[in-house]
Amino acid sequence: MSAHDAWVHYRNWGREYGKLVYVQDKNILILNDSRVAIDLLEKRARIYSDRKMTAMMKLCGAELNLALAPYSNNWRRKRKLFQQNFRQSTIDRFHSHQYDKIHEFLRQLIITPDNFMQHTLALSQRIMFSALWGLDINPEDPLVQKAVTSTSTMAQSTLSGAFPTIERFPWLRFMPSWFPGCAFKRVAEECLSITKEANTIPFDMAMDNLNTGKGTSLIAELASKCKGDLAEIEAIKAMGFTSYLAAADTTVSSTSSFTLGMVLHPEVQAKGQEEIDRVVGRDRLPTLDDRLSLPYVEAIYREVMRLHPPLPLGLEHSLIEDDFYLGYHIPKGCSVVPNIWAMNRDPEVYSQPDDFLPERFLHSSTGPFTSINTIHAFGFGRRVCIGRYMADNTVWLTIASVLATLNLRLPKDKEGSDIPISEEYTSNFLRHPKPFQCSITPRDMCAERLILATSS
Ligand code: HEM
Repeated sequence: MSAHDAWVHYRNWGREYGKLVYVQDKNILILNDSRVAIDLLEKRARIYSDRKMTAMMKLCGAELNLALAPYSNNWRRKRKLFQQNFRQSTIDRFHSHQYDKIHEFLRQLIITPDNFMQHTLALSQRIMFSALWGLDINPEDPLVQKAVTSTSTMAQSTLSGAFPTIERFPWLRFMPSWFPGCAFKRVAEECLSITKEANTIPFDMAMDNLNTGKGTSLIAELASKCKGDLAEIEAIKAMGFTSYLAAADTTVSSTSSFTLGMVLHPEVQAKGQEEIDRVVGRDRLPTLDDRLSLPYVEAIYREVMRLHPPLPLGLEHSLIEDDFYLGYHIPKGCSVVPNIWAMNRDPEVYSQPDDFLPERFLHSSTGPFTSINTIHAFGFGRRVCIGRYMADNTVWLTIASVLATLNLRLPKDKEGSDIPISEEYTSNFLRHPKPFQCSITPRDMCAERLILATSS
């Protein structure tokens, strides 16, 4: 952890000031305790489920993104559509895309192991393009670049203080971009245009593929059923766009944290491999059906999600009415920040909270297979991550497939000695490991054959 990390400061303030930390000049309430987060964000979800939309975010086209949309009928309608397509009972339709892309990832890892970070990023992007639009897209594709630019500009614009003029004088949005103090408009106009393209181009490609018989996809099938209902088509387009934005970087963060964890903890890796060999055997790759027979692999997955939530401060929930809790007044309009990072390292809940110890889930009274709702990394209440069942399968299957076939080790110098690496993470809103080196090799000939056989 770094001294610059906001979540560390917030956790320290909690230790000093108590369970509720209210920062008056920013009008934010920081929650470091999961029980308090559940009391407010889940049990009182009716009033704690709004999001704040700044003038700059609006200009950037953030309303297209369900994750940033205020709690409104528009949000309800879009969330319902998501719910119908991403709930637990419907996500089987994504399995073939997940298997295909994860197996492709294994093949790339044995061909160019040094590029493992690019392959990890490509994996999460490819799964989404394939599962939603039926498109086979590479990370270098301009379409991916547009989505990446849109996300990073929007992420900047959501940070309070990033564009202070427009935040203090929202009427400036009506002025031309050459007006003094209006440089933000150029950034916003560019972001909006890229966002609209990222929202529309894959949709048009998917429709074209359906109409010309080249292939079908979730998005094209949904759109073809709504017979020209423009509002519904917009909602379907936005579902694709939002899923991609919400999924790609979060999933890559979790899979990279797993890789780093295995390099730093070879004893955990060996136990995971031993369990897979014993339960699944060496003549096939693990499948999602094996999951409940692999408690140690589950515990590794849970420990990665506990120690390294990709969004350490989740997404802010905004309060729509004054509220009272534990004798404190919480003002209407206040932004509530769930410090997921701190909740997951709470010493009252986890012993040795900063250590990577998957065994803790095996030895807990509930065992490792608890409901997905106990994984705080996916957030809380009515705004909880809607893609969590899909994300959960992707990250778990990646972990199981890599453990079954590959050894992840410290890099070696010319003399063949281990080069130590440090466990450094970014301090950003989206937290992920900083680039690190590692050595990736097939566990043996049998594992290599299994990987190569997936291309047929
Ligand atoms: C490891 C992967 C992922 C993590 C850790 C993650 C985490 C989160 C978190 C913390 C939130 C905010 C919840 C809150 O406000 O309390 C969220 C929201 C959201 N996530 Fe995910 N997510 C992941 C993958 C995905 C995937 C694969 C999809 C889509 C297929 C997705 C779609 C969404 C959407 C649409 C929202 C906004 C929900 C709303 O505001 O109503 N996420 N996610």
